[in-house]
Amino acid sequence: MIVPLLGLLLCKGRYMRILKSNGSISTSTFFSAIMPREWALNGHDEGFFNYLKMFFEFLSTYLPKGAYMELGCGTGLLCKYVETYSKKQIIPFGVDLNHKLVRLAKRNNPKYAKNFQVADYFTLPIEKLAKFTSVAVFIDNMQSWGKTCMMICSLLKKRENKVIVLHCYEFRFLPISCYILDPIASIAEKNHYHVFVFDRFVVLTKNSRIFRHYNRMKFFEY
Ligand SMILES: C[S@@+](CC[C@H](N)C(=O)[O-])C[C@H]1O[C@@H](n2cnc3c(N)ncnc32)[C@H](O)[C@@H]1O
Repeated sequence: MIVPLLGLLLCKGRYMRILKSNGSISTSTFFSAIMPREWALNGHDEGFFNYLKMFFEFLSTYLPKGAYMELGCGTGLLCKYVETYSKKQIIPFGVDLNHKLVRLAKRNNPKYAKNFQVADYFTLPIEKLAKFTSVAVFIDNMQSWGKTCMMICSLLKKRENKVIVLHCYEFRFLPISCYILDPIASIAEKNHYHVFVFDRFVVLTKNSRIFRHYNRMKFFEY
């Protein structure tokens, strides 16, 4: 009874009131407290919540402790989620092209507001991106694939990030387009990264053991 009531109270704000709270609330309350229009700003609709929950939980479990940079952070929901629910200390950073979304990302992550910036992530210096413990890149489609591929390969060659995640919300865009991943996979191998391909995302990690107990099929069956 208390949880739905709390969710309702939290939903009263224009966007996500929940983000003013601390990590003691449950993850389902976090999701139910987000207004549909905020999900829509991030390009998601209600039919997508189960996947989002799985992906958010996945990231909060597997991101290593340290600075996390989200390229294409939208309103900063995912940053807030991993910062709140990860058992490790994650310091969120985010970049997005859209001014309005970055303003909301700052509001959603008040403690880390200065870490969110308006920018085209392709213009960020690789040297700076390489300093983050983990980087997640959100792409929409093939349009900017060449630049994305170059950016990820340059990061792999630096060998500094512990984890790089490439995500495309388009269903099976990445695994089906194997030719897209080929150059990345070969550079990853040369630079001692392991490659894990899921339905909508790819994880490049120095630590092959992180998925030892993980049911990867969960994402393929979704
Ligand atoms: C589908 S949304 C994902 C938002 C959030 N990461 C999430 O998972 O809910 C993708 C975001 O990437 C941003 N984006 C796309 N290309 C970008 C670029 N070159 N530089 C910065 N942001 C970009 C878009 O503005 C959009 O907000």
